Amino acid sequence: MTHPLTALNQRLGGIAYGGDYNPEQWPREVWQEDVRLMREAGVNLVTVGVFSWSRIQPRPDTYDWDMLDEVLDLLHGHGIAVDLSTPTAAPPPWFTRLHPDALPVTSAGTRLAHGSRQAFCPSHPAYAEAADAVVTALAGRYAEHPAVALWHVHNEWGNHNALCYCDTSAEAFRSWLRARHTTLDALNSAWGTDFWSQRYGDWDEIDPPRDTTAFRNPGQELDFRRFSSDALLGRHRAETALLRRLAPGIPVTTNLMGTLEKKTDGHAFAPACDLVSVDHYLTAADPDGHVDLALNADLARGMAGGRPWLLMEHSTSAVNWQPVNVAKTPGEMRRNSLTHLARGADGIMFFQWRQSAAGAEKWHSAMLPHAGTDSRVWREVSALGAELATLTEVTGTRVRADVALLFDWPAWWALELQARPSSRMRYLDMVRSWYAALWSLNITCDVVAPGADLTSYRAVVAPNLYLVGDKDAANLTDYVRRGGHLAVGCFSGAVDSQDRVRPGGSPGPLGEVLGLSVDEYLPLRPGERARLDDGSAVADWAERVEPRGCAAVVRFAKGAAGGPASGGPAVTRNDFGRGSASYVATLPSPQTLHDLIEALAHRAGVRPVVPPVRGVEAVRRTGPQGSFLFLVNHTPHHAKVPGVRGTGLLGTEVSDSGVLVPGGGVAVVREQAPARP
Ligand code: GLA
Repeated sequence: MTHPLTALNQRLGGIAYGGDYNPEQWPREVWQEDVRLMREAGVNLVTVGVFSWSRIQPRPDTYDWDMLDEVLDLLHGHGIAVDLSTPTAAPPPWFTRLHPDALPVTSAGTRLAHGSRQAFCPSHPAYAEAADAVVTALAGRYAEHPAVALWHVHNEWGNHNALCYCDTSAEAFRSWLRARHTTLDALNSAWGTDFWSQRYGDWDEIDPPRDTTAFRNPGQELDFRRFSSDALLGRHRAETALLRRLAPGIPVTTNLMGTLEKKTDGHAFAPACDLVSVDHYLTAADPDGHVDLALNADLARGMAGGRPWLLMEHSTSAVNWQPVNVAKTPGEMRRNSLTHLARGADGIMFFQWRQSAAGAEKWHSAMLPHAGTDSRVWREVSALGAELATLTEVTGTRVRADVALLFDWPAWWALELQARPSSRMRYLDMVRSWYAALWSLNITCDVVAPGADLTSYRAVVAPNLYLVGDKDAANLTDYVRRGGHLAVGCFSGAVDSQDRVRPGGSPGPLGEVLGLSVDEYLPLRPGERARLDDGSAVADWAERVEPRGCAAVVRFAKGAAGGPASGGPAVTRNDFGRGSASYVATLPSPQTLHDLIEALAHRAGVRPVVPPVRGVEAVRRTGPQGSFLFLVNHTPHHAKVPGVRGTGLLGTEVSDSGVLVPGGGVAVVREQAPARP
């Protein structure tokens, strides 16, 4: 069957291009200009209605479809398809007035007020009822509208309100706990409630982990995270079911947030969508923001099971929600967009079409800036639209990765709960450092869940699995036994899925495959360094590792310089079954990680997309229609990538000596022979 996104691309005649369109912010005359300029910029898909609830249902018992009727007709008349959004991310003021107890409550007990967006408790029945009603009305009205090509459920589930601690949430939490644990005895055991006299004798005694005197119960916190993500997923499923029933044949998506969102488990949401779409925003203060972008694109593809995905939002230039909102440099938006495309996106969309004149996001960039069409941003936006129109043949091709990087929301939640050995162990830092090593070696990886089917990967890396469930650990052990090559980062296998330490200590069920046990965790003091015998220095973390069959590949230096684990293994390797498993007992330097990944790739027979050229990112998409090599130059200097043959696209120069990638530019080559059929 044709993938729903590929079908959408066919309908659009190419790569999806556009953004959030919020016509309610503008008078009618402007809509005419909007559609004209959309055409000019090559826009073929816009997301409409994300925050329109107070317009389309101005009073509890009144719907007003005038704006949407007119806008949808207008867009359709100009050949622009619509990703129609349910408006449920922003209940109108009348809803809050009718149901003040549906406002979310913080862990400190403060009920938040109306006045922003997502001001609702995810578990409140009044919200569910109102949301279902407006979704039903919307779907009923537009199911047959020829402009509607995609449904966009809600907006960034849980971005602002995922964790609600109100009494309604407490009740829903209890029901969720009953379903998960069945008996109070099981819950008491899972949460270790005999510690600090927390044993529950009645389900009604259990509350969300609200602010309390000292450390909260970690099992309770972890389950509350799971419950909260599930509560939103329940709402996502409810809306999706309505749309599928009332408007069959139109695919449904929601904009996930990748690593931007800790609170909702993307791996759980993705399968509940017909096609995966994500938002990504660069962190202006991060000089390696483009590496984080690549990581998130690979996560989007991982969530999509390797199939194409849609970039629902990114920014043309600055955002407005960071401490200092740096404008993108000329060419940066193009590089960002083409990198997403290279990594499997078949649509490039932005927040938002026209920069707002009023409201909280007026200083956020858009496709059409305040300055109008005589502006750098507009010129780059229209140029990109024209370029994407020439890359239609890329749609539907796939990025094939030989490596999987494991990313797990529950592991992230658990690692960063209170009272760990070191608060300096940050999940995303670990993931990013491992990913950066792969990135710099031009090794493509899919970012997937630890329970994913790993059989197609030659190598798997797990930057951190502090929490690992028995099944996931067995999945990894089996993977290696059958010939896979695995590398695992420090402080992994520490607890089970309830944050309980298993008998025998770390790395728990990973001990067999890694061929070691961890005698003691030895966090370093802030500012302290320990030397390794590969010449690098590490900070923050060390472990005393006892080999149980593994070999030490790198050791902590002997004597004082080696820190608390001096002389002990820092990087190990265990030949196990038909494969191998490595462990890293510290937060390694980029050089140590680079060496580790290079050795792992060598053992596993993983090859780079092309041999690395400093600062030039390389990704390949392949399909029956051909092989497309994308080269993104993140340096200001021209670069030559040798050994590539084919036809240059987007003006790319290919010669016998290789491909020229202009400083800050992107080269795309339709390769002569697919690298891998
Ligand atoms: C998110 C939201 C958008 C907008 C942008 C701004 O992605 O989905 O509505 O607020 O952030 O960056």
